[in-house]
Amino acid sequence: MIKLVMGIVLSYFIGAIPSGVIIGKKFKNIDIREHGSKNSGATNAYRVLGAKLGIIVFIFDVLKGIIPILIGMSFKIAPHNLVYLGVAAIIGHTFSPYLKFKGGKGVATSLGVFLILVPKTILFVFGVFAIIVYFSKYISLGSITAAFLFPFANYFFYKNNKIEVTILGALVAAYIIYKHKSNIGRLLKGEENKFNFKKK
Ligand code: G3P
Repeated sequence: MIKLVMGIVLSYFIGAIPSGVIIGKKFKNIDIREHGSKNSGATNAYRVLGAKLGIIVFIFDVLKGIIPILIGMSFKIAPHNLVYLGVAAIIGHTFSPYLKFKGGKGVATSLGVFLILVPKTILFVFGVFAIIVYFSKYISLGSITAAFLFPFANYFFYKNNKIEVTILGALVAAYIIYKHKSNIGRLLKGEENKFNFKKK
């Protein structure tokens, strides 16, 4: 039990590391929270800082989800409890003490967590995400659709999974959709930013 609690606390602080803000300030002296969508995540880092730094932030944010799970595995935390570490990292990313308890929308960090826990589900929803983004050019629409499909796909691919992963996975998906409320407003008004892959 103590191992699990320590793992959760450590995962929260790993998830909370504000990669986008740190990289933006360090390499371009820009606070990405003051530009673009004002989000601190990888999509806005790409938009504001350019492709190279945006991809680096994305990799960092995915790793913030993968590393806590790998640490949990190496400390022999029970497989069905690893999802608690993942959720802690995702909450850390979206609710960071380093950013006055604000943060990103949790997509890349959730991708990292569930890529390890339920890889088939992630491959499926990532495929849907890629198709939607390719045709619509809206990253947010891809993220929202992937999050919406996640619980259904997860149930389909992992019917026999422990209940913790199924339930917490669905709650994370709902949380991600909630974090996109401003994007949903912009999409409905036709004012959402289209994503420009070729930029910089
Ligand atoms: O992963 C976040 C993405 O879905 C939307 O980001 O910066 O366009 O609000 P942003």
